[in-house]
Amino acid sequence: RAALGVTGAAGADVVARPGVAPGTLALVPTMGALHEGHRSLIRLAREHADHVAVSVFVNPLQFGPAEDFSRYPRTMEADLAVCAAEGVSLVFAPAADEMYLPDRQVGVSAGAMGTVVEGSFRPGHFDGVLTVVLKLFNLVRPDVAVFGRKDAQQLALVRRMVADLDVPVTVVGGETVREPDGLALSSRNRYLSPADRVTALALSAALRAGAERETPEEILRAAQAVLDAAVAADPPLVLDYLVLADPATFSPVSDDHRGEVVLAVAARVGTTRLIDNVVLTLI
Ligand code: PAJ
Repeated sequence: RAALGVTGAAGADVVARPGVAPGTLALVPTMGALHEGHRSLIRLAREHADHVAVSVFVNPLQFGPAEDFSRYPRTMEADLAVCAAEGVSLVFAPAADEMYLPDRQVGVSAGAMGTVVEGSFRPGHFDGVLTVVLKLFNLVRPDVAVFGRKDAQQLALVRRMVADLDVPVTVVGGETVREPDGLALSSRNRYLSPADRVTALALSAALRAGAERETPEEILRAAQAVLDAAVAADPPLVLDYLVLADPATFSPVSDDHRGEVVLAVAARVGTTRLIDNVVLTLI
């Protein structure tokens, strides 16, 4: 039951590809409800390994008690069709009681970096993410694992875990896929009403406004102005945070910081919580 075989695209797995070692495996961990963002990660995975595995598991450990675990979309049939169309060799879709022993004790701690920015709004979230990601690595044993930059702090923490715990997996980051109007694709977008969706455009619009400025202070001011307009809109945007942080540590950057920074935003529209970010270079 844990491993649902998917027929790969005809012949795709036996054709030698330059730069890809035969027999290597890339894993794309997901919670299902697969969209174009996930598909782009699957395609990126194919560039880095001979075979691609996708895991589909809505991880109870990473949802807070007031969060949307029970209403999180579960679309396994459609997800399997996406994986088959993308030439995925294996879909790993365990049940919750197969993943976690009833008397489980030990998990991964995300450390201080798991308690800032997104972590300060979702206590325990990143511990739950890293615990399931390490379990998925141990169960699937990929050479490469692909994560989206859409969840920038998650990607940074997976890299941190791999470095700190000597996990023998190469981590690859994939670009955020957006709708033509800028909204970052998310499994949660399906909960937005048409009016919610208009308000939700403020997240990506704020990041674009910030990206046109040069200093941390100007960047934050320009992005905040866009968000302020959406806070006053109907339906309103409820802002959780707007931060300019070091992309590797997620600590806030000082005004004289140079190099790459991540401008990250999280907000709620109606009952839906959305996050987005963009990486900028300060010169
Ligand atoms: P999920 O939200 O399903 O996302 C799976 C992967 O898809 C993550 O690496 C995420 O960053 C990426 N992703 C989501 N939206 C994207 C977009 N618009 N463009 C590009 N990539 C996108 O993230 C999780 O699941 C879970 O926390 C998981 C890592 C599976 C652990 O449970």
